[in-house]
Amino acid sequence: MARSIFLPPVLIAILLCSCSHPADMPSDEQLSLVSPDGRIALRAYVDTEGRPMLEADWAGQTLLTPSALGFTFADGRPPLRSHQRIASISGPALFEQSYALPWGEADSLYSEATTGTIDFVSQENFHWSVDIRVMNDGMAYRTRFPAQPNADSLFIAEEHSQMNLAGDPTAWWIPGDWDSYEHLYHQTPLWSTDVKANWDSLAILCTTVKSNAVNTPVTLRWPDSDSARAGTHVAIHEAALYDYPGATFRIDTAQRVLETELVGGPHPWKAAVALPFATPWRTLTVAPDAAGLANSRMALHLNAPQTEDPTGNDWSWVKPMKYVGIWWEMHLDKAKWSRWNQDENGDAIIGDPHGLHGATTENTRRYLDFAAKHGFDGVLVEGWNTGWEKWIGFDDREGVFDFVTAYGDFDLVQIAEEARQKGLQLIAHHETSAAVTTYEHQMDTAYALMASLGQRAVKTGYVGPIIPRGEHHHGQWMVQHYQRTVERAAQYGISLNIHEPIKDTGIRRTWPNLMSREGARGQEFNAWAANGGNPPEHNPTLAFTRLLSGPMDFTPGAVHLSLDPYKPNNRVNTSLAHQLALSVVFHSPIQMACDLPEHYEAHPKALAFIKAVPCDWAWSEVIEGEVGEYIITARGEKGGQGRVFLGAINNGVLRELTITTDFLREHSSTNHTGRWLVETWSDIPTFTATGWALAVTRDTIDVVGEKIHFAMLPGAGNARIFTPLKKDGE
Ligand code: NOJ
Ligand code: CA
Repeated sequence: MARSIFLPPVLIAILLCSCSHPADMPSDEQLSLVSPDGRIALRAYVDTEGRPMLEADWAGQTLLTPSALGFTFADGRPPLRSHQRIASISGPALFEQSYALPWGEADSLYSEATTGTIDFVSQENFHWSVDIRVMNDGMAYRTRFPAQPNADSLFIAEEHSQMNLAGDPTAWWIPGDWDSYEHLYHQTPLWSTDVKANWDSLAILCTTVKSNAVNTPVTLRWPDSDSARAGTHVAIHEAALYDYPGATFRIDTAQRVLETELVGGPHPWKAAVALPFATPWRTLTVAPDAAGLANSRMALHLNAPQTEDPTGNDWSWVKPMKYVGIWWEMHLDKAKWSRWNQDENGDAIIGDPHGLHGATTENTRRYLDFAAKHGFDGVLVEGWNTGWEKWIGFDDREGVFDFVTAYGDFDLVQIAEEARQKGLQLIAHHETSAAVTTYEHQMDTAYALMASLGQRAVKTGYVGPIIPRGEHHHGQWMVQHYQRTVERAAQYGISLNIHEPIKDTGIRRTWPNLMSREGARGQEFNAWAANGGNPPEHNPTLAFTRLLSGPMDFTPGAVHLSLDPYKPNNRVNTSLAHQLALSVVFHSPIQMACDLPEHYEAHPKALAFIKAVPCDWAWSEVIEGEVGEYIITARGEKGGQGRVFLGAINNGVLRELTITTDFLREHSSTNHTGRWLVETWSDIPTFTATGWALAVTRDTIDVVGEKIHFAMLPGAGNARIFTPLKKDGE
């Protein structure tokens, strides 16, 4: 439903006095856009050398110093950098939208933006345009190349979009890796960042870092010493990435320039595009605090509305679900993905079983029984199909995996039927081992098989260097591949959860079947990372970096934290309550509870929270937090009793916090007395063999005037359920 909006005087003045301009406008004209709330002011113009430029202020302080836009080409076409002329300007105009989300962190969203477009023309008479939107929570721009007489395609060597931040904010970054986002984050002053000297060169299976560049979202905060901008937070990312490489941002520390560096491939160009073409939006979210960044939904606003469901069923088959699976036991080395031993070439020695195969009919039944007993929606089975003997460490991986042929000890048809009888989804798993062409060849058959068995969701994976060689996970070729999987799966009524993906840029608004992705260093690193797993600050860093881009299949909910006896040298470096809180803090509409059934059975108090917590929300609000330190998130269930779930996670220091109950008052319906039952899962300072002991308490609070206190131990967390009490106190 559209809201009425307050237009500040400055915007009303702009809307009244400026609309479109004649085509022969002198090049010293500029487009000025002010956010609806008046806080962001952006100017776009060409400088004296004819370079298209942007600059911006936030709350009266310089945020972006002059930042150039431009392109260079690999086919002899002159660069679009200097000597550009403004042909016309349109805007400012007000753009409002409200829309429903079939699933997600909220059931509906509203946005308002001040928009404008500048049309440029080069000396060679090449036309291109830059669309700009300025919102209350940030700004975005994209380039459009219209079809024109002298060009029907472009071979883009580089996009030179700058975001030159004023001052010297602190950056939380991962390297601008062309293949993997699975890194720990680093925190450095932006303009002295040395990516190669600092990144964790942990031997993850495929990594390509070429320059002093970072991946996005990259999050920045101005230090207290910058009195003008102290505490201001920014995140730089992109929205609506289709048919184009992902962008990293290269940091030129000497010039203080932050500029896009597209992910490349085997060609002299990084993007080959047919005209007309629009690049993704380059986005900058800005907020007075870290929570403000996490509460922004800008990327969704910049994506196109929902596309038509190719099955004709209005996407009704896309269903949020909580799942367990035959997964953690392989990461713990309790079981194996493969059924057979392998020879020196990695080929299966058929008939020589090691007896540790996880995905057997019998073991799957154990998970189905557990899932049905405890009300989960689905069971993922990894290692069900042939090929796992040769899935990593071999150059020639094409033709190895088979996505329709189950190992002989896994009765796929029978298990699918048993899952159906129990009301469970059998979640498919397609690990491609980055042999992408093999997957492309089998996609249709594999999705058709899934559909015939009633399987509506698949987890895909792309471990290893991309074949064909020279292509990268985040390059144009792979962006197109990932999108083909989304569109093809949609035709069969199948939803996707992509591991080793391209980053999320909000296209779930358009394609609701793209439910979740990995795209960061997730829980699995706790089981086997040579550098000791994820440190406690990793999770409150992810919450303000990776999670800004969209849902993540982090796979929270470990309860047996020592990993004993399987991995005596590893452990989960966070507490039990922290693990529970993660399923509130890290949104994923397809949310895993990662641990083993026998471990959950041994931790009934923890399991009770995991069973209760939804994965699809009416509303969400990050209440407060600091990047890498802590975060407190509240979310409201859809329908039901109108319960509110709260998750708080801490880094490695002792922390005491107090928040108000405003979030309960602001989001809840008024038809209750204002008293709430509060159930709290917290860590108490009694150290057991597996970490802090877990305590569950029950209390009631009055929403008016009460405060909520947290005392969080190092690495700990806090998970709460607030249930509104009816008038009679029930
Ligand atoms: C890496 C994925 O992130 C993980 O979840 C999966 O178990 C393995 N690949 C095997 O596909
Ligand atoms: Ca992974």
